[in-house]
Amino acid sequence: MDLWRIRGGARLEGDSVVQGSKNAALPILAACLLCPGRVELLRVPRLRDVDAALEILRHLGCRAEQEGDRVYIDASRLSGSVIPRSLMEKMRSSVIFMGALLARTGQASLSMPGGCRLGKRPIDLHLLALRELGARIEEAGEEILCRPALLRGAEIRLPFPSVGATENAMLAACAARGETRILGAAREPEIVSLQAFLRGLGARISGAGTDTVTVSGFRPRDSLRFRIPADRIAGATLVCACAACGGDVLLRNCDPRQFSAVLHFLNDAGCVIMQKHDRVRIKAAGRLCSIGPVVTAPYPGFPTDAQPLLMAALLRSEGESVFRETIFEDRYRQVPALQKLGAQIRVQGREARVRGVKRLRGAALEATDLRGGAAMILAGLSAEGETLVRDAGHIRRGYEDLNGSLRSLGACLMYEGEEHGIIQNSEAL
Ligand code: UD1
Repeated sequence: MDLWRIRGGARLEGDSVVQGSKNAALPILAACLLCPGRVELLRVPRLRDVDAALEILRHLGCRAEQEGDRVYIDASRLSGSVIPRSLMEKMRSSVIFMGALLARTGQASLSMPGGCRLGKRPIDLHLLALRELGARIEEAGEEILCRPALLRGAEIRLPFPSVGATENAMLAACAARGETRILGAAREPEIVSLQAFLRGLGARISGAGTDTVTVSGFRPRDSLRFRIPADRIAGATLVCACAACGGDVLLRNCDPRQFSAVLHFLNDAGCVIMQKHDRVRIKAAGRLCSIGPVVTAPYPGFPTDAQPLLMAALLRSEGESVFRETIFEDRYRQVPALQKLGAQIRVQGREARVRGVKRLRGAALEATDLRGGAAMILAGLSAEGETLVRDAGHIRRGYEDLNGSLRSLGACLMYEGEEHGIIQNSEAL
């Protein structure tokens, strides 16, 4: 169990470099299966989800190592296409290995993926896309068997722009004979980075960032070096932390356009935002004002992953802000914990109303999921007294060193957790 001990009240000042993107790195790690030789990835965040992806690659017979922020993958000796349930349930992105295995071996045997419980999270759209390409998929309860099949190009119409389904379709389409068009594709930056990676590997692929992605061939190159882009949600986390606590923070090595929907609302709430192509500065003073409605939507709309973070920033604002969650059915799981700190939030179905209070008071909380857990930390930083966040590992699935980043900005918190069997304990408060 990880433990975060937070003493609220400090303003955040200084600058911070944003970590590499989790959601870009994970599908790219799966895509390494398409390379018959060596891949070197730079700026890979050290995360539990990355560990889980490397474990899957090793299980399949690849060499997969992380040294600092570099990852080396050699998939030349791939020897299997079965991923056991114990590895599948470690994270959501394990499901992207289905498209990658189909592309490399024509078959796959796996089970339903794990990940944060934010609602039902079915994989019907992934299966629809892969079946359109000719995959022969059988489902038996939690188990999924893709029998050997030759894939052929197809027109895939996604009824909803699912990020994961788009990624799976792109990977499998690389091995298909003929052209594939994915219509209604997700437009997230992670789709663009996956396209860039696949191009580097020798795929003829275009359209990422629009709602139609076209894949028309693949001549694999036997090595590639690729840099993972910055994590837009980690960037959003730090600007929301500054908004929650007050202060003046500069984020470097990021692309603020990728979280401009978040910056836009922070600006409406009274923060001063200054951005250049790879950096953003936020100044927050006094109480924020109410905003809204904040409606989550597929990119370039407001990201559902940032909803708990922006909510945490607004708990002490003036007036009432309304959130409407349209992506996941159960994404207000942070709310009972925030209420324990004294926040006034009313949830009714997909809508949450946050009425700002003058002060929050520290309490003992339990992290419910990755971004919800991060939201509790931000709220704790803006509360009086001490907040404890106990976490069964969610936060470290997605943040490399949230404790270090916040401390370097002047926040007062301590993290105790276990990484690779080593107890990590930041200095006492
Ligand atoms: C990805 C991100 C996650 C983010 C989400 C939405 C990764 C590793 N995770 O998740 O952080 O919150 O995008 O931006 O990149 N759906 C179906 N059937 C499917 C697939 C999805 O009904 O087959 C539904 C989901 O239940 C959800 C919505 O579509 O309601 C969005 O899901 P999707 O875009 O697929 O998200 P993920 O790829 O799981």
